[in-house]
Amino acid sequence: ATTADLAGRHVVVSAGGTREPLDPVRYLGNRSSGKQGYALARAAVARGARVTLISANSDLPDPAGADVVRVGTAVQLREAVLKAAADADAVVMAAAVADFRPAVYAPGKIKKRDGQEPEPIALVRNPDILAEISAERARPGQVVVGFAAETDDVLANGRAKLARKGCDLLVVNEVGERKTFGSEENEAVVLAADGAETPVPYGPKEALAETVWDLVVPRLG
Ligand code: C5P
Repeated sequence: ATTADLAGRHVVVSAGGTREPLDPVRYLGNRSSGKQGYALARAAVARGARVTLISANSDLPDPAGADVVRVGTAVQLREAVLKAAADADAVVMAAAVADFRPAVYAPGKIKKRDGQEPEPIALVRNPDILAEISAERARPGQVVVGFAAETDDVLANGRAKLARKGCDLLVVNEVGERKTFGSEENEAVVLAADGAETPVPYGPKEALAETVWDLVVPRLG
């Protein structure tokens, strides 16, 4: 049963994966579909929230009732998240943000030249949006949630990442040889800065979305 426990709240969800352009036709990207973030946005609408969905390169249809802001790169995602977070009660960073971007953007298509080795691609660091919004807290009592994929020592690494990022909740997915993305053995644990640990059994992304909001609601200021 869905309750309107997010009524009167503004929540921001980021979804999808950033693309970092090398030239007008090429980019460094990742395989994130945006499904988890879109499920979070739909669930928040159903629970009565005003929802801003910051969508990076997802093909999914706009969730009914959400304000959708489309972005491409990590730098654009940061600007959109910071703007929307200014009056948000909760921010959930479900997007896969590129850690690095090409140091140089070539305004014309990069060409191959006969007999020449390709140029190495120099990278620079992208801003860590989750760490930044966790440190700034645009509004007192704002709840910040991150996502992380870990291959080993899931709980220990997850705890360390939660502390490093400074968020309130971290949804940790175990990935690895048998527990891969998309596999039925994928499962998550939601770690809370207050020490709570909530295992989420394998299931649809909608179920994980509901669990995230169940954990956000009692922490709202
Ligand atoms: O450090 P790592 O990439 O494992 O952390 C993942 C979490 O941090 C996700 O919630 C992602 O949205 C967020 N992130 C971010 N900015 C980055 C990299 C990751 O906000 N540059």
